[in-house]
Amino acid sequence: MIAFSELKDFATPPTNEGDTYPIFNPHTREQITEIKESINEEMEVAIEKAAVAFETMKRLTSAERSDILEKASSIIADQKETFAKTITLESGKPIRFALGEVDRTVQTLKFAAIEAKKMEGESIRLDAAPGGAGRDAYTIYQPIGVVGAITPFNFPLNLVSHKVGPALAAGNTIIVKPAEKTPLSSMLLAEAFTDAGLPEDAFQVITGDGPRLGKVMIDHPAVAKITFTGSPKVGELIKSQVGLKKITLELGNNSALYIDESVKDRLDEIAEKAAVGAFSYNGQVCISTQRIYVHESIKDEFLNHFKKAAEALTYGDPFDAATDMSGLIDEKSQERVLQWIDEAVEGGATLITGGSKQENGVTPTILTNVDADAKLSCEEVFGPVVIVNGVPDAEEGLKQMNASTYGLNAGVFTYHLPQAFRFAHELEVGQVLINDIPTLRFDHMPYGGLKSSGYGYEGIKYAIKEMVHMKFISMNHAF
Ligand code: SIN
Repeated sequence: MIAFSELKDFATPPTNEGDTYPIFNPHTREQITEIKESINEEMEVAIEKAAVAFETMKRLTSAERSDILEKASSIIADQKETFAKTITLESGKPIRFALGEVDRTVQTLKFAAIEAKKMEGESIRLDAAPGGAGRDAYTIYQPIGVVGAITPFNFPLNLVSHKVGPALAAGNTIIVKPAEKTPLSSMLLAEAFTDAGLPEDAFQVITGDGPRLGKVMIDHPAVAKITFTGSPKVGELIKSQVGLKKITLELGNNSALYIDESVKDRLDEIAEKAAVGAFSYNGQVCISTQRIYVHESIKDEFLNHFKKAAEALTYGDPFDAATDMSGLIDEKSQERVLQWIDEAVEGGATLITGGSKQENGVTPTILTNVDADAKLSCEEVFGPVVIVNGVPDAEEGLKQMNASTYGLNAGVFTYHLPQAFRFAHELEVGQVLINDIPTLRFDHMPYGGLKSSGYGYEGIKYAIKEMVHMKFISMNHAF
């Protein structure tokens, strides 16, 4: 828990109206544009406008809200290249993956369009209770008002849509404070919604310093809910400040995978998948495959395949369709990732491949025999680094996987059915992927973490539940 005395140092001082700040291409570290550094009053005005727009939004029919979401989804599909290039430019995500993120966003908003029409309550038999006869009772879901969203750099379009889609589907309005480094995709998203006919001010993007502007959102009485994706440290800080507002937190993970000896004939395929899970977007994904525990009897063979898969990845210009990996989001991240690798090696780990700087990135890195206390074992590296440790049996694999303060996704490869069920039951995570890597998410599935990984759920239907009030209504027809 962060001490209250630290809070005041967390936010930067207010700025002057009209100030801007630079946005960089993370791959080249060249400046690409300047963006408005909003002052606190601009956030306040946006919130007040969103509160007014809520009066319109909440009166739209579910069919009308669904229609707007469907149209926004189509607009994004029609402008796929523009959206993907914007993601690549500001986040350094290789264009192949950026195109994938746009496809996912199209789906995310389609799922929101579907769920907008399905916010159904239930009827309740009050006559089941003594004295309850003579009444018909039911529940309805109602929107809560203005949602404040604080979003991360790594999926600057789809993770914003995971907050905007459900908020609008439910009939709320939303203000997005995008990551300072990647505001452009969310600004394009807002334009798509305007073109789709969303009432004015129902979705606004306010750019600038996260802690300062986030604090304005948190403190404003008209904001009914805060939804945040980012680090556990900031998540914890926000949770300590929101008071009685609703809150959803999607925080980090150091995703683990167990591979048992029953799948020994498919280690080449598993290694290919694990390389995608560990190194896509340079590991800057909350569910990046970071810890692999493999049965000792197949460890060497797995490592051979895995090394080959990692070394086959190409580093280069993220706009090149053949590029797998590129520069990390900033120099600080690059230095931290390299330092954690060095610390693990100093602690006795063996470097199988990688471990060095590559222009503004880090080479895909595999280590083995990594100490359980190393940062790479305990914390979230958010870089292209994975540890592969041998374990004598499934019992130890499970123990190691659960020896984490995080609990978002985990994966297990096994043909052994009882073992699969045992892992599913015992893993201390929100999502268990049997015979898949942990780096897997479909946009309509529930997605939420245990322990330091978060609070509440995303995944459109589940996110909507956290953005509505359930109202109970009883009609005494015997009166
Ligand atoms: C995340 O990195 O938080 C989300 C991963 C995903 O949506 O695939």
